[in-house]
Amino acid sequence: MADQSVTTQNKYDGVAKTLHWIVALLMLVMLTFGWTLEDMPLEEKVQTLVIHSSLGLSVFILMFIRLYWRSNHTPPALPEGMPGWQVAASKFSHHGLYFFTILQPIFGVGQSMFADYEVTPFGLLSVHAGANESLYQIFHVLHGLNGRILVALVLLHLGAALYHHFVQKDSVLKRMLPYGRV
Ligand code: HEM
Repeated sequence: MADQSVTTQNKYDGVAKTLHWIVALLMLVMLTFGWTLEDMPLEEKVQTLVIHSSLGLSVFILMFIRLYWRSNHTPPALPEGMPGWQVAASKFSHHGLYFFTILQPIFGVGQSMFADYEVTPFGLLSVHAGANESLYQIFHVLHGLNGRILVALVLLHLGAALYHHFVQKDSVLKRMLPYGRV
């Protein structure tokens, strides 16, 4: 008889799935439209940044909720027999996604603090600390560079999910889909 004390969970729970897809959607929006900010006329940029900074800070908060949930709810194991390099690549990209996603809003806030325009997340509070061209430039470069790293990691993540689904034909993608049956 199977040991009842050992429960092998083979899919993500509803909370983990919901958080994953909300963050995925927000990141898709941010990493697609963020690049248009640089060349925008000032007034339009300031208005757009209300939405951009609000969504960015929401991602920041959601990532900590995800980390908290994950620490209490063990995610399903990787499929058996996966080559060692794929297991390592999976760990590297997942840790990277958490790390660089959390870093991105921090650089965004830094950039906004020293810009020569106001950024007011949720239209409520200005994060402005006084214009400083050199500090603005440092955070601007970091925010842009980190954004490029995130685009690469998201593409890798998406490629891996499709590879598992269509080539390996395992349950890795299905177990994260909203109505995926595993
Ligand atoms: C997950 C969160 C975020 C993502 C994915 C993201 C993404 C991006 C991207 C891709 C750019 C264009 C970078 C470039 O042109 O080199 C950008 C610009 C910018 N972001 Fe974010 N961002 C995030 C959060 C934030 C937050 C929280 C703030 C402020 C509170 C912020 C403020 C800005 C500002 C001020 C700009 C540049 C505007 C300019 O060119 O002068 N971002 N963001």
